[in-house]
Amino acid sequence: MLDQAEALRMLVRDRVMCCGSDIRSPRLYTIAVTSGKGGVGKTSVAVNLALLLARSGRRVRLVDADFGLSNAEVLLGMAPRHTLNDVLRGRVDASDAWANGPEGLKLLSSGSGLEDMANLDGEAGVSLIDFVLRTASDGEVVVIDTSPGIDRSIGSILAFADEVMMVTTPEPTSITDSYAAMKVLLSKIPDAEITLVANCCSSPSQASSVADGLKNICERFLGRSFQRHEYLPSDATVGWAIRTQKPLVLSSPHCAVGPWLKKMAIKLDDRIRRREFVPDSLELAELVEA
Ligand SMILES: Nc1ncnc2c1ncn2[C@@H]1O[C@H](COP(=O)(O)OP(=O)(O)OP(=O)(O)O)[C@@H](O)[C@H]1O
Ligand SMILES: [Mg+2]
Repeated sequence: MLDQAEALRMLVRDRVMCCGSDIRSPRLYTIAVTSGKGGVGKTSVAVNLALLLARSGRRVRLVDADFGLSNAEVLLGMAPRHTLNDVLRGRVDASDAWANGPEGLKLLSSGSGLEDMANLDGEAGVSLIDFVLRTASDGEVVVIDTSPGIDRSIGSILAFADEVMMVTTPEPTSITDSYAAMKVLLSKIPDAEITLVANCCSSPSQASSVADGLKNICERFLGRSFQRHEYLPSDATVGWAIRTQKPLVLSSPHCAVGPWLKKMAIKLDDRIRRREFVPDSLELAELVEA
């Protein structure tokens, strides 16, 4: 008899891997939000950044890849009718599983029943995320909220991302787990574009010292590190926004963490814009010929 993990692997093979190669838009900018330790603020960061980018006019897709837990929909106060689980089980087409959220954002929830997704092998994980992104090809930005720690399927997602946001807090356990996650990530993807998000800090200087310490260790033992860091203050409004299911940047934009999230979104938007102005190789060849 098939166990649940094997049944899921077969679903991905049947429904996803048969769909052909990657045809997603080269203009899609994919950001994966991850962490070493759990409960450090990934979902809050993913949801609020996605909303700020959507509010600024970007076509934004949010993918809840924290398989089986689906916290993003809770933070957004949404109850999507369909989920990735329904897509894999053939109950709905992938393009119909995106739910309309605030500010024009579209959400793909993983739904319940996909807890064993973490056991997918790398090839199936890549095919799954490729498949999801192909159904988002009319978007400009895809934000992917992941579960903590880098298992095989999360590793596949991170390998796909244009940018990885590694969320940490100043707690020693979070910092050591971030180093462990960074080690796995950089061994798989040596040139990964990583932004360290120092969340729940008491000041920008605390965030800088967290980032400096982690950078030193990464450079010394891994020979490479993250490219930049961001500071987010500790703010009780984050918990209130989660409890009331009212996204913070919409309900309390002027709370302590609000302006810092906005700064982060502006810098992120700038990186997306700079990427858009880099012609891909085909366009470059055409430009040279012209
Ligand atoms: N800047 C902050 N200030 C205060 N509390 C915060 C902040 N960011 C997150 N939190 C709190 O941390 C908790 C976890 O937040 P969140 O669910 O976003 O983390 P997560 O990393 O997605 O967790 P998980 O690993 O379980 O998916 C929440 O209770 C939230 O209120
Ligand atoms: Mg989460």
